[in-house]
Amino acid sequence: MILPDLPAAAPVLARIVAAVLDRWPEHRGYLDRRFRDETPEGLASAETLAGLVAAIAGDDLGRVIDGYRHMCGMINDEEIHFRRTGRYRLSSFAEVEAAIYADPACMAPYLDGILLSQLLWRNHADAIGLYRRRFLGGNRPGYRHLEIGPGHGLLLALALADPACAAAAGWDVSATSLGRTADALARLGIGRVADLRAVDVADRDAFSGASFDSLVASEVLEHLERPDLALETFCRLAAPGARLFLNVPVNSPAPDHIFLFETPEAVVDMTRAAGFAIEHTAFLPSTGLTLDRARKIAATISAVIIARAPD
Ligand SMILES: C[S@@+](CC[C@H](N)C(=O)[O-])C[C@H]1O[C@@H](n2cnc3c(N)ncnc32)[C@H](O)[C@@H]1O
Repeated sequence: MILPDLPAAAPVLARIVAAVLDRWPEHRGYLDRRFRDETPEGLASAETLAGLVAAIAGDDLGRVIDGYRHMCGMINDEEIHFRRTGRYRLSSFAEVEAAIYADPACMAPYLDGILLSQLLWRNHADAIGLYRRRFLGGNRPGYRHLEIGPGHGLLLALALADPACAAAAGWDVSATSLGRTADALARLGIGRVADLRAVDVADRDAFSGASFDSLVASEVLEHLERPDLALETFCRLAAPGARLFLNVPVNSPAPDHIFLFETPEAVVDMTRAAGFAIEHTAFLPSTGLTLDRARKIAATISAVIIARAPD
């Protein structure tokens, strides 16, 4: 699939790609690589996702694209630092909270960027496909769902749109994220109310007494000083046999990534050590790379893990 072929196969995706190229023509080479080898099934899935992203963006698609471009620039700077030092720039949650999560001027465009990356980054699109089909689709009827760090709100909206989901909560440390999640649910016409709360996952007291059948932390563990403790919290929050969806990018420098996982296996081992049984793993290299190549050059790999709490 090459870009000129998109319109017939995927009209909404084609509209978004054209709008991106309009504002950022230099991104064509990357987008060519992203969609060049896409299968017909992958393209159909991208078109569905494009419909959701377009609905959330609404009249603000231009702003969302500018946020995406800004985010790509920030990540490029972090990548240069990572290649020079082998480390992420920041290591303390407090620093990131002050500079990013608590600053709407920084957080809002960043969330726009992450939203569009769900479509335009191969590893993100593949991960959300697994979340929809294999994770949500495998949950028991009447499941109670919690997402930590819903950010732009797309994943939480998919849970709330699932008739098998009885209730859904989205807890995030950033007021900007909670606002964006609420907006996304409204723009997608989700008629159900979500329990949206300002919570730091490191605050163990915030979770006492809660219990869920379905737990999600997508692109969150690498934002924590102690992801091992967060996984233990998830295990305590899990009802017997509850399922957990994790998406954790390894070797993935970003301004708010503070915990460096160097291999997908390190995430799997930590999940197991917290008490979960591994049900499924998928290691998804970033756009244009094979998994072998990504491992060899320490490029980003999204480690998707579906796990189960003890019965
Ligand atoms: C990269 S975004 C992920 C958004 C979405 N889940 C996804 O997969 O695209 C990370 C989110 O985690 C939130 N977050 C970071 N640290 C957190 C913490 N300690 N407790 C709760 N939420 C946190 C951020 O505010 C942000 O909304």
